[in-house]
Amino acid sequence: MNQPFKAIKVSENTYWVGAVDWGIRDFHGYATKEGTTYNAYLVMADKPALIDTVKAPFYDEMMSRISSIIDPCDIEIIVSNHSEMDHSGSLMKSIEAVKPDKVYASTMGVKALAEHFHHDKEITAIKTGEKIDLGNMSLAAVETRMVHWPDSMMTYLDADKLLFSQDGFGMHLASTERFADQLPESLLYAEAAKYYANILLLYTKTIAQALDKVTGLGVEIECICPDHGPVWRKPEQIKWIIGNYVKWAEQKPASKAVIVYDTMWKTTQHMADAVADGVSQAGAIARVLPLSSAHRSDIATEILEAGALILGSPTLNNQIFPSMADVLTYLKGLKPQNLIGAVFGSFGWSGESCKHLIEYLTDMGIEIVAEPVRSKYVASDELLVKCHELGDLIGKKLLENK
Ligand code: FEO
Repeated sequence: MNQPFKAIKVSENTYWVGAVDWGIRDFHGYATKEGTTYNAYLVMADKPALIDTVKAPFYDEMMSRISSIIDPCDIEIIVSNHSEMDHSGSLMKSIEAVKPDKVYASTMGVKALAEHFHHDKEITAIKTGEKIDLGNMSLAAVETRMVHWPDSMMTYLDADKLLFSQDGFGMHLASTERFADQLPESLLYAEAAKYYANILLLYTKTIAQALDKVTGLGVEIECICPDHGPVWRKPEQIKWIIGNYVKWAEQKPASKAVIVYDTMWKTTQHMADAVADGVSQAGAIARVLPLSSAHRSDIATEILEAGALILGSPTLNNQIFPSMADVLTYLKGLKPQNLIGAVFGSFGWSGESCKHLIEYLTDMGIEIVAEPVRSKYVASDELLVKCHELGDLIGKKLLENK
């Protein structure tokens, strides 16, 4: 059919009919420097099915891709695997246009969609182990609560041995390449890790359970179709991404210290540099993230594979720098596990920054393993040596814990 956007075949019976968002740079606080995709899929079964939809402004693009394969009115089933609006934003409009026989979501999904759209549509709840009949094939539901929301579920298409994994195994990456095997592994790793760190880290325990459910399905998975980023179709890459999720879910501490700081007149910066040198001289890795250039979501990504978080801030009006409070509020929400911590900072007269930084780390369940180092006004060489010793101590502890 003559359409401005075309569907892309991803397996025997399944087409990608989503949208590419090249321009998005902020996804609820996460810096999406590579844009993203909103993936929807069309299953060409006896009863054609649409799996998820797209963010509302991309409705026409999705409908055009569907129309390149079939008349959208021929779709008989719509499945909403996840109610967040990057996937459900076009759901109500799609139901009105398509008039499917049935719309399915998880039990929590039915509730969440009612609370989002206050609609009058009939949506049928489906549970783990239940199947949606598509005539010549079926979709099995696997509820995966908190990957990423309470309503989240995955669906498995038996005919194609294909898992629709909604947010799981996804990444924010706009590309014309629809398959992971068309993209460099370093890019896939960086973006998948960033996605995990910023979207899924808080739910690590439930992810481990979801992985058990997925790998315990007792079925082969030849294709994983997430709701963001490329489709996984090569066996070695499917193993690779599941293996990375298993690793990230464990959050084993690595011999790496992440040093996050902001600075007023460069004293805290010099202190950070000396701490980093100490970590490095001890034989561990230091990553220094000044808030003049590092985004909170890049910091979360670095922490995903770290063993220590070291914070530095000047005192400003008896507080820490507002930029530090931003990052720490964000990290506190993500609840990274198995980290040790330390703090440093500069001050002119009252000097509360280290006390506040310790409170943040303690609230996050991070064990403080060193005395704070504080510099009045400009750091002397002796004071910078103390910073170096702080880094050395953390570096040695990281190697001990290896
Ligand atoms: Fe891509 Fe949780 O939505």
